[in-house]
Amino acid sequence: MCGGCGYQSPRWLGRCPDCGEWNTLIEEAVAAVAVGGRSIAVAVAPAPTPISLVEVDSAGEERIPSGLDEFDRVLGGGLVRGSLVLVGGEPGVGKSTLLLQALLAMGAAGVPTLLVSGEESAAQVKLRARRLSATFEGLSLVGETRLEPVVACLEKYRPLVCVIDSVQTLWSETVNSAPGSVSQVREATGQLLRVAKEREITLVLVGHVTKTGDLAGPRVLEHMVDAVLAFEGDRSRPYRILRAVKNRFGSTNEVGVFQMTGQGLIGVPDPSSLFLEEGADRAGASVVAAMEGTRCLLAEVQALVVPSGLPMPRRVTRGIDHNRLAMLLAVLSRRVGIDTGACDTFVNVAGGLTVDDPAADLPVLLAVASAFRDRPLGHVAAFGEVSLTGQVRYVVNGDVRVAELARHGFERVLVPRRNAEELRERRSVPADVVVHEVEDIGELVRGVIG
Ligand code: TYD
Ligand code: MG
Repeated sequence: MCGGCGYQSPRWLGRCPDCGEWNTLIEEAVAAVAVGGRSIAVAVAPAPTPISLVEVDSAGEERIPSGLDEFDRVLGGGLVRGSLVLVGGEPGVGKSTLLLQALLAMGAAGVPTLLVSGEESAAQVKLRARRLSATFEGLSLVGETRLEPVVACLEKYRPLVCVIDSVQTLWSETVNSAPGSVSQVREATGQLLRVAKEREITLVLVGHVTKTGDLAGPRVLEHMVDAVLAFEGDRSRPYRILRAVKNRFGSTNEVGVFQMTGQGLIGVPDPSSLFLEEGADRAGASVVAAMEGTRCLLAEVQALVVPSGLPMPRRVTRGIDHNRLAMLLAVLSRRVGIDTGACDTFVNVAGGLTVDDPAADLPVLLAVASAFRDRPLGHVAAFGEVSLTGQVRYVVNGDVRVAELARHGFERVLVPRRNAEELRERRSVPADVVVHEVEDIGELVRGVIG
């Protein structure tokens, strides 16, 4: 069975024909099903009567505040009653801490909660809870990894919110494979889903991610749950970002930002300058104003371009897409005349932030050009998407980005022409900011860097 998509094959294959991933097929024992030689008569099921949407009873979803504002923000305003939420992240990023804090806060607010801990002992949980909160009377705990007792416990005690840490530790006797395998995880999620919906219990499942960043276990898991949240962050840094990958009850356009401290995770309501570092006026540095949900984060982009002794010069990125850099280097070569073909190129977004906003194209390109020429950009910020033709293209939320840059003392901002027009029309250029409109990348680089 493929660990990525659940594809089944009667023999081992190096590559899954369904999702195309390599080395994802693992052996799983399947219970034998006796198939008789004769056909079985199946009763014809009565057809349900379709009803008009107007008649559908929509009492509105009931939300339970998690007690952590940044968590609620990502969920779309709290945990929906009876929903199934999957929280994924690398080991050590802080999943257990986040959910324990939420349970403690909800418990303190009088919400009946339950923690099913298969990874840590009750004593370990208590030790951590003591660090995180002064009161933990509201939290009950079950140390169990067998699926059937967990389901029975939910049926019997019916908590409002239950956290399963983690779904990979659960195993059912009815399934003939090891805990954490595709069929075990799928069986566990299926049974938990049924109880959650029947008893209106909100279930939060913790899931580990694989090295490539995918949630371990089958993709089918993502289809079964109502929301999938990814908890990301560099373990050597204190900042963590919680992102909604899927959300049936809210937008996937919102992120939560946390800081890991000695007393657990603390929400960061104003994260815009967390990733901004000193030194933005050196050669090879620029500032990106990237949208994360409805908020704008500022971060420093650093580039280094050095002559390479290798036949295939290195392109190393951290925090931006590798292929995006390859494209920008091609544009620089063809449209500006800066040829990095014989150089090793390194690009890094400071602070461990990952940026996938196309508006980062322009600052990344400027950082590389600045590094190549070894001339600083000066205290100037920029945003815009760069097209293959060497044009700087419009990006959304220009006004939010300019306002955020102004708030952090940037006086000159390079923006795409259409963004500049829009800013002027809406009269949303802050008084102490000069907006330069840019259109052609060649002209711009020659003007700014020379
Ligand atoms: P944890 O929640 O156990 O991670 P996960 O469940 O995702 O594997 O948290 C792991 C790290 O967080 C651990 O290395 C220590 C750190 N930590 C703090 O820095 N402060 C704290 O108050 C707590 C509880 C943990
Ligand atoms: Mg954990």
